[in-house]
Amino acid sequence: MEDLHLKHNNQSVKPVTLNTLPLFKHPDILDHFNESSSIILHCGDTLDFLQTLSCATAKLIITSPPYNLGKEYEKKTQIESYLKIQEQVICELIRILKDDGSICWQVGNFVDNAEVFPLDIFFYDIFKKKGLKLRNRIIWRFNHGLHASKRFSGRYETILWFTKSDAYTFNLDSVRIPSKYPGKRHFKGTKRGMPSCNPLGKNPSDIWEFIAREWDEELWNIPNVKANHPEKTLHPCQYPIELIERCVLALTNENDWVLDPYCGVGSALIAALKNNRKAMGVDKETEYIFIAKQRIKDLYAGRLKIRPIGKPVYEPTGNEKIAQIPPEWKKVE
Ligand SMILES: C[S@@+](CC[C@H](N)C(=O)[O-])C[C@H]1O[C@@H](n2cnc3c(N)ncnc32)[C@H](O)[C@@H]1O
Repeated sequence: MEDLHLKHNNQSVKPVTLNTLPLFKHPDILDHFNESSSIILHCGDTLDFLQTLSCATAKLIITSPPYNLGKEYEKKTQIESYLKIQEQVICELIRILKDDGSICWQVGNFVDNAEVFPLDIFFYDIFKKKGLKLRNRIIWRFNHGLHASKRFSGRYETILWFTKSDAYTFNLDSVRIPSKYPGKRHFKGTKRGMPSCNPLGKNPSDIWEFIAREWDEELWNIPNVKANHPEKTLHPCQYPIELIERCVLALTNENDWVLDPYCGVGSALIAALKNNRKAMGVDKETEYIFIAKQRIKDLYAGRLKIRPIGKPVYEPTGNEKIAQIPPEWKKVE
């Protein structure tokens, strides 16, 4: 563990905890909620499971719900009936959320007859109607995905971060990223000549602006989980763990409960446990729950492959074979 004890503006700054080891050495993975447990993994329908949980239990609810796209784990329905079911789930989630807690709802687009419906627009209304407050609409951009031919290829999804009240946890210092120009200094006023950046780094931002040169640096530049990613399992739309880790570190404290109501292969649970939080997840697919259990066991055995948080995304230098223009495309002189 790296311990950064720094003085900032003459105040002692809380140490930043980077990649700590799990606190719970021998966790039992339980199927149902129990006050003294630290990991719950349930296979079944999310609404049924959520109804068994007490009010004000979870500090962070983070999920990527089914998008109603007809993936292998879902049956595509009309958007209205899909949203109606989601609204029932959201009602339960708000009941289970602590007063100082957060919900992070990560979605992309529902597509019907080549028409795009950005799901966050629909979900925003549901959460707002129920009194939650939006703190950020985070853009998660990635470099790969399907190539569209009748519209621009989609390369981002959003995370709506809502809080239940104004008194919410936000540990900015735990998720700061290195400043681009740490040597910058105040050029006027009483602090003239003194360093102007925060020694712990800068706010990672929600993005985005079309500032061409800062484009890559300013984005939540976390690759999506594709075949060459160390975390890849058979799940078709798995979360990258580092994306959730940023939310876990910023929005919860150690020992808080993190809940993923559509947990798939357990990425959110791993992000929580890795950072000494308690973790709870439910998914209806036996196969995904089986993999999630195995990944949690591997985490504690120290053999789970995880892309380290903040590791730079590989940029081709231009010299790689696949970065070269195919010889067939070159004009014969
Ligand atoms: C977008 S995926 C989530 C993937 C997850 N974030 C991960 O990293 O593996 C949505 C998940 O919701 C699950 N699901 C869909 N409807 C459900 C329901 N009614 N109850 C429980 N799980 C459900 C699917 O099986 C799928 O794994």
